[in-house]
Amino acid sequence: MRYLVTGAAGFIGSHLAEALGAAGHDVVGLDSFTDYYDVELKQENARGLDVRRVDLAEDPLDFAGFDGVFHLAGQPGARSFGDVFPLYLRRNVLATQRVFEAAAAAGARVAFSSSSSIYGDAESYPTPEDIVPAPLSPYGVTKLDCEHLARAYATSFDLDVVVLRYFTVYGPRQRPDMFFTRVADALARGGTFEIYGSGEQSRSFTYVADAVGATIAALERGPSGATYNVGGGDEATMLEAIALLERVSGRKLDVRHVEAAAGDVRRTKADVTRIERDLGWSPSTPLEEGLRAQWEWAAARVAAR
Ligand code: UGA
Repeated sequence: MRYLVTGAAGFIGSHLAEALGAAGHDVVGLDSFTDYYDVELKQENARGLDVRRVDLAEDPLDFAGFDGVFHLAGQPGARSFGDVFPLYLRRNVLATQRVFEAAAAAGARVAFSSSSSIYGDAESYPTPEDIVPAPLSPYGVTKLDCEHLARAYATSFDLDVVVLRYFTVYGPRQRPDMFFTRVADALARGGTFEIYGSGEQSRSFTYVADAVGATIAALERGPSGATYNVGGGDEATMLEAIALLERVSGRKLDVRHVEAAAGDVRRTKADVTRIERDLGWSPSTPLEEGLRAQWEWAAARVAAR
């Protein structure tokens, strides 16, 4: 098959593009290499991949000849209040609307990467897909906008689209603003780690290879219009996660508590019944095993510098 991957120089996108290539597919990556984090890291992620520099919010898009589009590009980060909001509108809502237009015109199937952030502090845990969404961050609000756009394009222009809600994905190449990368970095270099609030907030951490497997299964076999939670099996609080990384690394973390972050949800816990039933997918990487892989990657990078 011939596939497009948007955000192919990003954390999850680069793993996905590699996995598709390894499975024998023809893969073209698109990425605008924004400076949300160090562009050199993105160039490193993209090494060995065919990634073209395209701004989805304004460049012409022609998806003719592609069987499917994995749309992972976006402005990430749940701590997204303030004057950065136009970036969330442009890189999430506007870019996604243009991707849906182009995919519908080309008759290409889309897997759209959404986020557990659309739930906010959910009404119930584990959280099923059809609960009323109530995002707490501008990021979550724009991801939910994109989900609504997916439905609108499916209804009016027969867009064939499947939506994936990722739950805090981690593993090698995780973005530098995210929890585990920062913790691993502080452990490897010996700096202080700042935890937002009590550290009692918890997440359904999802290993990146599991997220990639779910994403490919959804594009290949997901019924049109379906929405799936993609969540890891192990829920942990930040304090528990730190203890686990300390054990894996054999080091002690210097932790400082700072003010809780606006937009940070208290808890995420994915109900994965639907994706198990429809696609036979369930998370298979235990948190400790995934953290070992992330720690080895982070420690090797620090040692190489
Ligand atoms: C992550 C991603 O950043 C989003 O892009 C994604 O959409 C979202 O998961 C999701 O699953 O929907 P988050 O769960 O906040 O968002 O993941 P982290 O950035 O790894 O943060 C995890 C927890 O660690 C949060 O409670 C955060 O406040 C805390 N944290 C993070 C700290 O205490 N200190 C830090 O320096 C960074």
